[in-house]
Amino acid sequence: MPLLAPGSPGTSPVRLRLPVRRSSTILLVFTILSFFMLVYASRRITNWSMMDGPNAPYRSEYSPMGVCPDGENCSHATQPNSVKQSETASSISSTSFTESTPPPAPPQPQDPLCEGFPNTSSVLLVMKTGASEAFARVPTQLMTNLRCLDDFLIFSDMEQDIAGFHIYDSLDKVLPEARSGNPDFDIYRRQQWCFIDQDSCNKLGDPAKEGWSLDKYKNIHIAEKTWAMRPNYDWYLFVDADTYVVWSNLMQWLSTMDPNKKLYLGSVALIGNFPFGHGGSGYIVSRAAMEEFVGKHPGVGNEFDVRARKECCGDYLFAVAMENKTGIKVQHMWPTINGEKPFTLPYGPSHWCHPIVTMHHLNSDEINSFFNFERKFLESHPPGTTILMRDIYEHFLAPNLLRIRADWDNLADNRFYLDLTRPGGRSYWDDWMVKRMKKDEELNEMEKNAHLSFEACENACRSVSEHECFTFRYQNGMCAFGNAFKIGKPVKRDDTKGSMMSGWLTERISEWIQKQGECKVKWPTPEYKD
Ligand SMILES: *[C@@H]1O[C@H](CO)[C@@H](O)[C@H](O)[C@H]1NC(C)=O
Ligand SMILES: *[C@@H]1O[C@H](CO)[C@@H](O)[C@H](O)[C@H]1NC(C)=O
Ligand SMILES: *[C@@H]1O[C@H](CO)[C@@H](O)[C@H](O)[C@H]1NC(C)=O
Repeated sequence: MPLLAPGSPGTSPVRLRLPVRRSSTILLVFTILSFFMLVYASRRITNWSMMDGPNAPYRSEYSPMGVCPDGENCSHATQPNSVKQSETASSISSTSFTESTPPPAPPQPQDPLCEGFPNTSSVLLVMKTGASEAFARVPTQLMTNLRCLDDFLIFSDMEQDIAGFHIYDSLDKVLPEARSGNPDFDIYRRQQWCFIDQDSCNKLGDPAKEGWSLDKYKNIHIAEKTWAMRPNYDWYLFVDADTYVVWSNLMQWLSTMDPNKKLYLGSVALIGNFPFGHGGSGYIVSRAAMEEFVGKHPGVGNEFDVRARKECCGDYLFAVAMENKTGIKVQHMWPTINGEKPFTLPYGPSHWCHPIVTMHHLNSDEINSFFNFERKFLESHPPGTTILMRDIYEHFLAPNLLRIRADWDNLADNRFYLDLTRPGGRSYWDDWMVKRMKKDEELNEMEKNAHLSFEACENACRSVSEHECFTFRYQNGMCAFGNAFKIGKPVKRDDTKGSMMSGWLTERISEWIQKQGECKVKWPTPEYKD
């Protein structure tokens, strides 16, 4: 493990010795000066003291500690204050108001970006990240939805502070016998050894792969630590740092459910037929289920430390431990809890009048654009309006819907028509594509030729019903149909494989949308088993 050797002895202390006296005098004067400036500034700005938690400076109006955000003109915070004080002054004469009575608390300035944000005080957001990706993901979360939350916890594989927010180490309680000699923990050790930026140290390894191997040890410990730190919430929402939460919808949905029932809600994935809530889509655990699971089983994280090495994923292990300790099983809340994002969601029959609460794999740009969309949408609709898949379609795809896009992959992949005369025949193509071909005798005349050209592929799409084809794409001998309409992404032109072209049957899509009419919001409802 040469990577983990302690810091290099190359930097000689001799070079620091000479200027040490002069610089320490300067440092002392500077420190004293800065201290007085700091005290002066903190008195001026607000009433928050050094005793506040790390999240205090960013708390919004819901917080008793709310302050004016950095870099803003705060005079709007003091003006209404002075109005209040003069009102109080006029009432002093008529009441027995003594000098020792504290002045009324100043109204808290509201972050304009959080206007209309729901009251989330019953929910604790618990976000999981890793030190190798934290700076790529967490800042954008802090700049968007998290700025509007009173409280949340962020767990990682290293303790650190990001922009004044504390990030907890989820792995410090993992058993020594699970850690030692375990290469899954190489990155964990390297991160602690690294006293400069992690990016530079990560050049010694493969952080994406290593981060993934370490991730599976986290989930149960995170739940345990969360309960120890914050036992008083109705709901606990566990997400990744690239998960987007639609809070206005989440709060509407949670108000239809009872946190005193043992609920574990997610988008179900399977490993060896065992169902678990997919971590990136996020899972919701009610207070009753948290109490039954981590509340009544302190140390449960350690019970699975050694086993984790053999398993693939932490979200899976969370479900295994939950079931083992409590018998509570995950309930499938898809598509409201969702693993896709605006550019990959399959709009259409399975995703239309359905409310959305989570999405996954959003990069910073995408988080920002959905946050902007959500703010504008809520501003322009009556309070309590639910954001549906249809609304996402109308904002993100409808204005950009074209019949044809060249060098574009619209992700159509439900049905394949492949040229089987290539060398190797079927084995020329990926197995999963071949599995999605129709049997020869099921093909109509158009479908038989679909693999020949983009136009033939389009004609074949038109020749089948909307249940089979809304969109299609073609690339040199491959025609694919999509039974929903997705946005997709550009693809690089490839002269050997031929470029990819995507098509959308825009009239068919419009007709289908017409037929749907108005949506009636229907929240997914769990079964109450206790
Ligand atoms: C938020 O809701 C809680 C009850 O769930 C309530 O006690 C609290 O006063 C509310 N906060 C605001 C700012 O409305
Ligand atoms: C701050 O806002 C007040 C009124 O809203 C204005 O009079 C003042 O000039 C502003 N100060 C700065 C630095 O923008
Ligand atoms: C929980 O796991 C332990 C250890 O694998 C096993 O012995 C026990 O039977 C399990 N209990 C339940 C209820 O699944």
